This record gives sequence, C-alpha cells and structure tokens, in this order.
Amino acid sequence: MCGIVGYIGKKEAYPILIKGLHRLEYRGYDSAGVALINTQGNLNIYKAKGKVAELEKFAEDKDVSGHIGIAHTRWATHGEPNQVNAHPHFSESEQLAIIHNGIIENYALLKQGLMKHGYTFRSTTDTEVLVQMIEYTQHTSKVDLKTAVQLTLNQVVGAYAIAVLDKNNPNTIVAARKGSPLVVGIGKDEFFLASDATPIVEYTDSVIYLEDEDIVTLELGKEPIITTISNAQKTPEIKTLEMTLSQLEKGGYPHFMLKEIFEQPQTLETSMRGRVNVDQNNIALSGFIDNKERFLNAQRIIITACGTSWHAGLIAMYAMEEFAKVPVEVEYSSEFRYRKPVIHKNDVVIAISQSGETADTLAAIKLAKEEGAFIFSICNVVGSSIPRISDSGCYTHVGPEIGVASTKAFTAQVTALIMLSLCIGKEKGTIPEEQYLQILQDLSKIPEKITEILHQNDRIADFAKTFTYAQNFIYLGRGYNYPIALEGALKLKEISYIHAEGYPAAEMKHGPIALISQEMPVVVIATRGHTYDKIVSNIQEVKARNGKIITIVTEGDTLVSQMSDYCIAIPETAECLTPILSVIPLQLLAYHIAVAKDRDVDQPRNLAKSVTVE
Ligand code: F6R
Repeated sequence: MCGIVGYIGKKEAYPILIKGLHRLEYRGYDSAGVALINTQGNLNIYKAKGKVAELEKFAEDKDVSGHIGIAHTRWATHGEPNQVNAHPHFSESEQLAIIHNGIIENYALLKQGLMKHGYTFRSTTDTEVLVQMIEYTQHTSKVDLKTAVQLTLNQVVGAYAIAVLDKNNPNTIVAARKGSPLVVGIGKDEFFLASDATPIVEYTDSVIYLEDEDIVTLELGKEPIITTISNAQKTPEIKTLEMTLSQLEKGGYPHFMLKEIFEQPQTLETSMRGRVNVDQNNIALSGFIDNKERFLNAQRIIITACGTSWHAGLIAMYAMEEFAKVPVEVEYSSEFRYRKPVIHKNDVVIAISQSGETADTLAAIKLAKEEGAFIFSICNVVGSSIPRISDSGCYTHVGPEIGVASTKAFTAQVTALIMLSLCIGKEKGTIPEEQYLQILQDLSKIPEKITEILHQNDRIADFAKTFTYAQNFIYLGRGYNYPIALEGALKLKEISYIHAEGYPAAEMKHGPIALISQEMPVVVIATRGHTYDKIVSNIQEVKARNGKIITIVTEGDTLVSQMSDYCIAIPETAECLTPILSVIPLQLLAYHIAVAKDRDVDQPRNLAKSVTVE
C-alpha cells in the first residue's frame, strides 16, 4: 500500500504534492512526508505521524519552496507508524531522499552489509536500506543516480515503487517499480509521478504506466527515459486517461462512501452499456467472445480474490454452476498461492480485484499462468497490474472508488460475473432460452431498482441510530444471498468496528444460535426465492430467542415483515440478481451506524484501499 507522488516542473511542487497525497490517502494514512529541493539547492524533508492534514500543520512554518519534490502517505509494514519511520528517508549524507511503496524482503541482510561500511540508520524501515545502498553504490562505483538505482535494485528481493531525489541533481527524479504501481504524467514542461492517476488527472491526461522492473528518469527539458533494471532501453508508451476530475470529488456528499453507494444506478448502467443488449436479446462481453473456446473447454473454473471481491466470486459460483454447468472453486488468493494447488492447462482462472493491484491475487494468477491456465480478470482500475498480466478480462468501469469500504465496485463485479455466467451458459446451451431472456430483461432494470431502494436512505439512517449500542451483529442469508450476509457483516465491521459475522442461515443452529439474545441484532436477507420457506423458519428460531430482527425482503412480502423489528423491501428481480439489490440496504446500514458512532467512514483505522503487500 502507501501512496507516492512526485513533481518536477516550473510550478511550486508543494501544493501539487499535498493535493496528490490527499487523493492517495485511501492507500494508507498512518504518516506522511514530503521532500523538496529549493532554489538554493537545499533538500528539505518534513514528516508527521497521522494523516496528510498533520503534515500540512507541521510544515506550516517551514520552507516548502521548490519546483521538484516527492511525497508519501504511509501504511506501515516495517516499523511502527511514527515520524521517524515516515517517508521520505534521507541517505547517510542527506544528499538523497527516497519514498517507497512495497516491501524489501532481504533488507536485514543488506542492512548488515551497509552497517559494516559505517552506515547508520535512523528508522526501523526496510526503505532506508534502499536509499543508503543507492548512495553507497554512487560513491563506490562512481556512477550517476540512475545507474546507482539500477545496481541497487538488482540486489533487492521484494516489491517496490520508489522515487529518488538527489540534491546534486536538482532537475531529475529517478523512479522504478516492481510489484507496486507507478504512473508517470506528462505535462507541458513538467512531469508527475504517482501510485495511480488520481493526483495527475487535474494537470494532464497523457500518462505512462510503468511496467515491472522499469526505471524512469524524469529530467526537465528532456523526454522521459525508460530502461529496465537489466539496462534494456524501452520506448515509452503514452496512454490517454479516461478519468475525470469530478469523479475524484465528493460532489456534495459528506463521505465518498455515501457518494459511491448513490452512484450505483449510474455505475451499473455504465458497466452494462454495450454489453447487455435488450433489443438484440443478447449479452456481449468481448473478453469472452474472443476466448470462447477456453471457456467452453474448461473442465473447471477457479475464482480467486480477497475480501469483498471474494464475496463477489462466491456469488459467481452459484451463477456459473446454475447456468454454465461447470464446477467452480472460489479461493482466497492468499491461501491459493501457498497451497500448492493442482491446476490444469484447461482450467480457467478468474481473478477479481477492484484495484487490480492486490498482491495476493496478483501472485495467485502468476502461479496459475505458470501452470498454463487461462487467466480472465475482472478489475476496475484500468491499466493496473492484474489485467495487464491476464490473458483476457472485463473492466467494471465504475470510475475511481475512493471510500476504503468497497461498494460500487462490488455490485459491478457481481454484474460482470453474472453476465459472464450467462454468456457461457448460452454458448454451451446449458441455460434455457426463456430464463436467459428474463434475466437479460431484469439486468437492464437493475439501475432503476437500485434508485428505488436508495429512496429508503433516510429511514435506514433513522433506525441505524438505534444499533450503536451493539457489540456484535449476525448476518444470515442463503443461496445467492449467503455471500451478501458475509459482505454485509464485512461492511459493518470495517467501518463501524462492531464485531459482525455472516453465516449461511441454516448453519446458525450448529453453533452461533448460542449467541442470540435481545442484545444481538440479527440481519436476515429473506428475499423471495427457492429457499424462502427455509429462511422463514430460521427467522422463527431467532425470534424465539428474542433476537432483534432486521430483514431485507421482496416488495409485497407480509409474512417476514410481520416477524421483523425493522424491515427493508427491495424490488422483485431474477433470483441470481437479488444480491445486487439486497446489498444496497446493507451498505447503507453499515454506513449510517458508522456515522452515528462518529467513525472515520472513508478511512477506517488500520485499513488501506489497495493491498499491495502480502
Ligand atoms: C472491503 C474491501 C476489501 C477489498 C480487498 C480486495 O470493503 O474493500 O476487502 O475487497 O482488499 O481488494 P481488491 O478488490 O482491490 O483486490
């Protein structure tokens, strides 16, 4: 995780860097820092524990002038989150400064070697080792900064996106990446550098996405020069950004999370545009069409993801088995990659990731690729690492998701996976035509149905306040809505810090029922579907033990609503699509409970949006 920003040009660097850090704060926010070279040639570093706002306060009375600088917002891996461990880090002589996102696995060994040469260390980070090694290499090998970076990185095991400033070379930034993302923005007489395009979009739409093992030299008045760490020259490929500035602002909402929940009718419309064709009675996913044979010949589909994306994968298991009649396994990427899994050449592996950078998911597909499996990815961030190494895929196109708790990306992932399941099923002839057409119709109406659910926001906000007392929550669901029970619980715990568990409803009597008392709110997704009667019995079991019952039901339901303390109705739709609707009230419930508890909704403690470390 961690966010990196850099600037070199004619403008004052500091305001650009600070604005960029605010945009990247979703990646980590336990400390922040900035390094600037001023016109007198001084290299100044300012750092503060806490969010970027703390850094701004700290730097208020300092010299923050300069047209070149690098800045960092941190999510601690090595070394506690304090001012000393915050980036940038100086080299021994304070000639160099570095920022780093990633982990240097062999840092202890490298550090020992440097200490033998008299180097001392101020912090307990792995990053400081890098900057010291670069300086040591500059001095001992008498090479320029870029070569020193290159020689150093050849000795490093781990993941990194780095940017280095050299006091003796105040017109140049050298940056490199392996395993952590880095984007270069090209403006008129200026360059930008960032972990993603959000700090750049305001100034230019011309970008270069660096590849693993690329080193870029950004020097004023020259074209960017890219080489690899093994010194091969590369021609930079300049791309045009699709992102807009308004996507990065709250647009009048108090939090990004609420904005993103409310954006879902429009984001799903965009996700389905050109894909769900009601007039032509078909769904067209180019990533599927171009690789049809791989899907049709697959004896098994393995889905790999983490967190909320894993929940989307679990829903896909139900849909793919129902419509495409293919066995599906859903794997936590972190387990899959280390389990020595059996992977066949004719397996299709689907990776799901909002950021497209999650380290475990990236490693899982690299492993599957080595074994010859076909890799299809469903990601949101265009140009990120996972889609780049996949054989094919489908972007969700929901725009930047900034709230740390995933909402709009999740509904788009589920939509994409249902579309894919229907495509495979139709091509294989394993889904009845009538059912296919009905789901297609229902898919096209999802955005307006979400709008209807969002009208209940005020009522949900109202009753959410009554649950701030709760220490624990249970979420129950069955079939397609079992993963929504998991997702509802995850949303609540990550932003309100209330302990919450999701269970398949029928599992409750195998243990969790012991927890039920009148202090325990139980959220049940009890929409109409083939397990409806069963879930009604599960609700009775909770009611008999005085649990507080909150239900999500289908419009027109009277049975369950009478048994509930609070009930939210959602419009009727095909059973496989209910998760896209039933999750909306649970996103709102979690949001309003967190707000009522005065939590930091968009940046909950200990979390970061993009998990680029194991
Ligand atoms: C929860 C959440 C996380 C992510 C997980 C995977 O709200 O956002 O659980 O879903 O870290 O991230 P991606 O989808 O970027 O791979």
